[in-house]
Amino acid sequence: MKAIVVVDKNWGIGRDGGLLVHLPGELRYFKQNTLGKVLIMGRKTLESLPGGKALPGRTTIVLSGDEHYEPKQAEGARTFLCTSFDELMATLLSLEFSENLDLEKDVFVAGGESVYRQFLPYCSEFFVTKIDAAFAADKHFEDLDRLAAGGLMKLTYESETQEENGYTYRFLKYSR
Ligand SMILES: NC(=O)c1ccc[n+]([C@@H]2O[C@H](COP(=O)([O-])OP(=O)(O)OC[C@H]3O[C@@H](n4cnc5c(N)ncnc54)[C@H](OP(=O)(O)O)[C@@H]3O)[C@@H](O)[C@H]2O)c1
Repeated sequence: MKAIVVVDKNWGIGRDGGLLVHLPGELRYFKQNTLGKVLIMGRKTLESLPGGKALPGRTTIVLSGDEHYEPKQAEGARTFLCTSFDELMATLLSLEFSENLDLEKDVFVAGGESVYRQFLPYCSEFFVTKIDAAFAADKHFEDLDRLAAGGLMKLTYESETQEENGYTYRFLKYSR
């Protein structure tokens, strides 16, 4: 599977339950890469989306320890609730079997911090939007540049610099 994330200079990803900054170009990039795919996200990230609803045109597997939790979803969205890591893996395997899902290509880990941490060992490619600024973040992603320096990761793609809302950022890809 892949992970998709927006980070600041220090690999910060969020603050007070929300994103660090609003970048419309990044939202378009997220949509373009994830439409028709399966997203994995934690209950807190789901609730941080517009209206607290799963996104249209995608299947979202939501993790919550509450077996009675009912994920809200936008029209055209599909959701599954899983109450453990193992149940989520079983759900993916069943989609692989019933819908020909390609686990390598069609599944994106979409946060937040706790979910990225659990699934990092299973991700082979990382779509990272890197903002050239440092925010007072309270949630972070693994520092992939540190892993790259140790030979565990490789930077495979770097876009031109984008500029929006007074911030500059780049779309990067890392692979194991
Ligand atoms: N920059 C980015 O690209 C990006 C992307 C996504 C999110 N974020 C940010 O990340 C922050 C949220 O991250 P977070 O770590 O606080 O929350 P989170 O990972 O989104 O959600 C945590 C919740 O997920 C459930 N959960 C996680 N692992 C589970 C497991 N193995 N089994 C059962 N339930 C499990 C639990 O829900 P229950 O409490 O219901 O049991 C847990 O409280 C926000 O600031 C958000 O904006 C940033």
